[in-house]
Amino acid sequence: MTGTTIRLQGCRKAFADGTVAVHDLDLTIAAGETLAVLGPSGCGKTTTLRLIAGLERPDVGQIFFGDNEVTHLPIERRNVGMVFQNYALFPNLDVAGNIVYGLKIRGLSPAERNKRCAELLELVGLHDHGKRSIHELSGGQRQRVALARALAPRPRVLLLDEPLAALDAQLRERLRGELDQLLRSLGITAVFVTHDQGEAMALGNRILVMEQGRVAQLASPREIYQQPANAFVASFVGNLNAFSVIERTTEGLKVNGGELPWNGASLPATVYCRPEHLRVMACQGHLRGRLVGQFFQGAQSRLLVDVGAAQPLLVDSTDGVIHAAGAPIALAVEPQVLFTLQS
Ligand SMILES: Nc1ncnc2c1ncn2[C@@H]1O[C@H](COP(=O)(O)OP(=O)(O)OP(=O)(O)O)[C@@H](O)[C@H]1O
Ligand SMILES: [Mg+2]
Repeated sequence: MTGTTIRLQGCRKAFADGTVAVHDLDLTIAAGETLAVLGPSGCGKTTTLRLIAGLERPDVGQIFFGDNEVTHLPIERRNVGMVFQNYALFPNLDVAGNIVYGLKIRGLSPAERNKRCAELLELVGLHDHGKRSIHELSGGQRQRVALARALAPRPRVLLLDEPLAALDAQLRERLRGELDQLLRSLGITAVFVTHDQGEAMALGNRILVMEQGRVAQLASPREIYQQPANAFVASFVGNLNAFSVIERTTEGLKVNGGELPWNGASLPATVYCRPEHLRVMACQGHLRGRLVGQFFQGAQSRLLVDVGAAQPLLVDSTDGVIHAAGAPIALAVEPQVLFTLQS
């Protein structure tokens, strides 16, 4: 089972009421790649997936799988597997019945179906659950049956629309790991919609961030985090501190609470950094403020430090120190972690 390249060329999809769900989308997904699609509710993630699946036709534009144009092919001729958030299993069929459902339609013999079913039960770690009925399964097990059913006909493309959203945090993390291994071992091309940026970072070879039907950024997780294309992407992926620049000084930039080191040529109106890039210092730093909140998060603590700006600074600290409420806090920052953004 190997994946295929997916290419959307100038795809646009509007609905009858005039809502343009997808605007002139150009997108190439490499064979075997896992693409995570991230963005706020209503930005066009599901519509993009449905265009790839053949459940919607673009009003304008073309879709290719490898060299073949599939724009007008119905879903059953595209060889895609789909997994939805609400798993939509057939409650009247047992686990095995659900998994082989699509194979029956494709005309496989009972012997072939049984063999494939056994392989898939093994693949998703449910080898002795074939005869179980769906209501006897946990949420995570149902999700795995849905995955097995989608994979059964050996699709070239796997489309996952928030498949883990209904699960609790722990199970979700475990299934995420299993899904990651599975996708890598199968070499299938996968497009994975999620609301969860951690999931997108963990699973995606690249992340597509969408905003109102358009590509806000398409890049590796690292690049999206470290070099966000604009303020929307930066605020959507991870937390952000924004510093309004008061004036340029000989050393750097004067901001609320102190002075930031800056060796850029330009004079930006606002500079940004991530919470983990502010370091709490014993005495001197670039910024001074007062602690207004401290939240224990296990391996790290999130501090809220008031420096006299509109919002307190977010600081992720791993030193384990507990500060008294209102304590003075000195913060240091390296110039290379500061960045500017297009609005
Ligand atoms: N069948 C439809 N008829 C009319 N409008 C639709 C239809 N399907 C989607 N839309 C609209 O198109 C836009 C994109 O919807 P889509 O379902 O792709 O969003 P999404 O990014 O998947 O959102 P969510 O995160 O909430 O699932 C929304 O404004 C939505 O209301
Ligand atoms: Mg959706």
